Amino acid sequence: MHRFQYRNNHLYVEQVKVSQIVYKYGTPLYIYSGNAILEQFQKIQQAFSDLNPLICYSAKANSNLSILRLLIKAGAGVDVVSGGELFKALKAGCSPQKIVYAGVGKTPQEIEFALRKKILFINVESYQELEVIEKLAGKLKLKQKVCLRFNPDIDAYYTHKYITTGKKETKFGLDEDTIKKIISHRKRFKNVEIKGIHIHIGSQILELAPFMNAISKAIKLIDNSDIDMEYLNIGGGLGIRYKRDEQPLDIYEYASRIKKLIGRRKIRLIMEPGRFIVGNAGILVTQVIYHKPGINKNFLIVDAGMHLLLRPALYSAYHEIVPLNKFRKRKYHKFDIVGPICESSDFLGKNRKLPEVKPGEYLVVFSTGAYGMCMAFNYNAQPRCREVLVMKNRIYEIRKPETYYDLISKEKIPQFLK
Ligand code: LLP
Repeated sequence: MHRFQYRNNHLYVEQVKVSQIVYKYGTPLYIYSGNAILEQFQKIQQAFSDLNPLICYSAKANSNLSILRLLIKAGAGVDVVSGGELFKALKAGCSPQKIVYAGVGKTPQEIEFALRKKILFINVESYQELEVIEKLAGKLKLKQKVCLRFNPDIDAYYTHKYITTGKKETKFGLDEDTIKKIISHRKRFKNVEIKGIHIHIGSQILELAPFMNAISKAIKLIDNSDIDMEYLNIGGGLGIRYKRDEQPLDIYEYASRIKKLIGRRKIRLIMEPGRFIVGNAGILVTQVIYHKPGINKNFLIVDAGMHLLLRPALYSAYHEIVPLNKFRKRKYHKFDIVGPICESSDFLGKNRKLPEVKPGEYLVVFSTGAYGMCMAFNYNAQPRCREVLVMKNRIYEIRKPETYYDLISKEKIPQFLK
């Protein structure tokens, strides 16, 4: 998080004072540090340099076109999970041969889009999906490379149950028997080349053990299959630090253990990190509208809520919240920081010890670069906010705020109501 630092009680992002950006653009506002994003990407490149993986940034973490572009220019591929993300990755200039596409519910239209664009891999999540790929690839007279997404039935403990994906109870991936069945039926799939195994067991994982278990199982599957499985896609899931006392996952240790597991095998590695690259590289700045003392609680009511940052409401996720400018001589109280949405679950933080921040002053919500803006929505007819990217001393607007007219632009009133 060192690209966000306090100097003389003022928060800076790279070389720019955050309050200067806020005075110019107002709140709520997402701010990203371009160099923090690049540094995280390079950290993975460095740690894995011996294995030379294709690092496909997971667009779902933050699919702003400029952020995709920044990473693509730095050499990243993109991991997508929908036709929309594929469209955005292509618009951001990603070579189709660096795009991998996972997801349990790819429609035939989405599959056809991916086939026509000749992307590197479709990661297959069910037998029926493979049949659809086969049929459509045949129709288009193409041969599509696929990886089989293996559900290794691993418990990525510590992470939230909604973001664990590698247990057999989840909807993701194929169990071992189905993979064996597909391999034994491979003659039926003439327009598909089965080239590897894909795994992704969950997100925000801070322990190496579940990763290593899953990867060993995947390698065993590759060893025991009688086709040439050239690729191993190890997915994403690398955890970051949200709380001060949390240790992010040790990426160097992760890389060296994978290297040991792979040994002398000729396996080409793909990875799909999302949060690790952008998570700590973004903040959400919000203005206090009211201070409301309650019977048992004090509330700080702010202009950002679950519509802009859903993680606290959906996963009870913790994001550090601090005043934008450090105040001296203010009394500290415990506050719930809540948004304007008409839902009791609309909060950004609970029971936080903060100085008495007054209406009109600002709070910063940290580590909101991943799964922040991309999960925002328009409930209560709240427009989504602006995003800016900072590189050194420059500020770039990378998404305009929505207007009230945007909120109605797709809606229609039929003639009989006019
Ligand atoms: N690959 C696949 C197949 C995935 O499903 C995911 C995330 C990733 C890669 C990237 O995972 P990451 O490196 O970012 O952990 N909304 C939740 C996180 C959902 C993650 C879904 N899949 C949150 O806010 O915590």
